[in-house]
Amino acid sequence: EEIKVFCPATIANVSCGFDVLGLALDSVGDEMVVRKTEEKVIRITKIKGQDLPLETNKNVSGVAGLALLEKSGYNGGFEIEIDKRIKPGSGIGSSAASSAGAVWAMNELLGRPFSKLELVQFAMQGEKLASDVAHADNVAPAIYGGFTLVRSYEPLDIVAIPTPDELFATVIHPQIEIKTSDSRKILKTTLSLEKGIKQWGNLGGLIAGLFQSDYDLIGRSLQDHIVEPIRSILIPAFDDIKTNAMAAGALGGGISGSGPSIFALSKGEKIAQNVAKSMEATYKTIGVPFDIHISKV
Ligand code: HSE
Repeated sequence: EEIKVFCPATIANVSCGFDVLGLALDSVGDEMVVRKTEEKVIRITKIKGQDLPLETNKNVSGVAGLALLEKSGYNGGFEIEIDKRIKPGSGIGSSAASSAGAVWAMNELLGRPFSKLELVQFAMQGEKLASDVAHADNVAPAIYGGFTLVRSYEPLDIVAIPTPDELFATVIHPQIEIKTSDSRKILKTTLSLEKGIKQWGNLGGLIAGLFQSDYDLIGRSLQDHIVEPIRSILIPAFDDIKTNAMAAGALGGGISGSGPSIFALSKGEKIAQNVAKSMEATYKTIGVPFDIHISKV
């Protein structure tokens, strides 16, 4: 018995929601085949597209799968084959796609014994392996779809947020790799009240904008006063990409997850395409190689 699943790429943080907000991309992601085996083990049999470890304990899908297997009463195991299209270290949730995809598929094969919240908890073990921190802002949207808010980590409380119909994301990935663990080390661990006030104002605004399909409010709220000023230094031409994307009609944007990818949200596919053109032109002018994606959210 086997199942083939799509494992979506995700944009974590979405500017104002560091470690709590994320969104899933409709049409960018990996594919994974998971099949039941008699032996109670998890085996990664094949990874196409990227050079990643096959050992269960070193692979995020293996670790997340083991967390699920331990909690299930199932006496067999699973084999996993991954068609890895999302590049690790690109900032669009490569590890989350593999962690979330594996536990989602296993849950389906077992007849859905676990809730989405439990699947997020298992998948977070994969994130812990990948970045030392079990953050949920990529795995939650990968499992729930659309936008999700991690209202609390202890206890884990995930809220699915509605997505306005015409929301599209453009994501450009300059071809450098930034490890989430490294880009977390450079962050400050304390926050001024002044910055806090700006940030939670925007986070509340973004959530309200999503509920009300108020695209202007969404755009006004896409600001990050805490993480972006520090991390953007690592990203080629970050300010130009953002300025030009806004000039092309984007509602707003920022760093995707821990970078180096940069995202912009737009109302409608046509604007998202114009934003993509402006981003491409920016990197072509200065000779930065890149990948680019447009997707419905
Ligand atoms: N919230 C995490 C971070 C996401 O920004 O470090 C990593 O993809």
